[in-house]
Amino acid sequence: MVETVGYEDGVVRMLDQRRLPAETAYLSCRDHHQVAEAIRDMAIRGAPAIGVAAALGIVVGVRSLGADATPAAFDAICDELAATRPTAVNLFWAIARMRERHARERAQGGTRLAEGLLEEALAIQAEDLAACRRMGDLGAALIPDGARLLTHCNAGALATAGYGTALGVVRSAAREGKVRLVYADETRPYLQGARLTAWELMQDGIPTTLIADNMAGHLMARGEVDAVVVGADRIARNGDVANKIGTYTVAVLAKENGVPFYVAAPVSTFDLATATGADIPIEERAPQEVTHHGGRRLAPEGVGVRNPAFDVTPHRYVTAIVCERGIARPPYTESLARLAAGV
Ligand code: MRU
Repeated sequence: MVETVGYEDGVVRMLDQRRLPAETAYLSCRDHHQVAEAIRDMAIRGAPAIGVAAALGIVVGVRSLGADATPAAFDAICDELAATRPTAVNLFWAIARMRERHARERAQGGTRLAEGLLEEALAIQAEDLAACRRMGDLGAALIPDGARLLTHCNAGALATAGYGTALGVVRSAAREGKVRLVYADETRPYLQGARLTAWELMQDGIPTTLIADNMAGHLMARGEVDAVVVGADRIARNGDVANKIGTYTVAVLAKENGVPFYVAAPVSTFDLATATGADIPIEERAPQEVTHHGGRRLAPEGVGVRNPAFDVTPHRYVTAIVCERGIARPPYTESLARLAAGV
């Protein structure tokens, strides 16, 4: 399994996902500015992965400032990383955890500040990997034998500390011999499905069939999809799910065709402070992601463009939400609160 992001000797090393699948190249970030740029430009992407990257970014940011790492400078590092992408709540969750650890270390004299922050960031990373493995195994129980699954975007090892959320479920189900094939939506405009999911599943030898996004309904209507499994960037208190643009369309098609629609996400993706999906901030990205492909212009110069990077799937379309603590079913206001509280 690929290593998405890691830390060694003051350097955050990450697989540069902009260059996949053509090249397996690593990026070395020596301070928080470089990590922030890598998140913003999607060298690393996926909700849990950007949380881990931001936590490690804080570690190298503090290191790079040395004696100048005052509390105000620490806050500025956190603020810069928090301003990179607005939708995935894991980013803010990880930064909040680092802020708490910083406060704790300072309250104890601050002599172990750098070590404490590194310890916390590595714990966030290790816990995410363990959560993915666990939710994968739990979620596999939802997958029927001989399943033809459909996934959207990339919610795999590349989007997490490893193993993946939706692709964790796929991996565990495949290990149990249940997966006949996975349809990977190409995921316009940034093509995470075509570039990343197809590559990642093929690395694992899981039978993968790439489709353009507009083919999903046709396959479902013909009875060729047994279940949909996707990840999430933020799940509101009522179970509304923000995920990659196009997820909502897949969910509506799934309901119309009687196909179960599963979401796999760690508890760090739950945002119980946000009542409904309508309150989730949706990132708008550069128009060039829509007008261009591989540096080549596809659309006429001057055309108006919208590029919302995420959409919200209302909870009524979600059959179940799998996390590392169990499987939530409707009504989500109750089931998510119970899982978040660990009861
Ligand atoms: O814009 P991206 O590539 O960061 O969007 C990623 C997704 O939407 C994933 O499905 C989500 O983060 C879950 S990743 C385990």
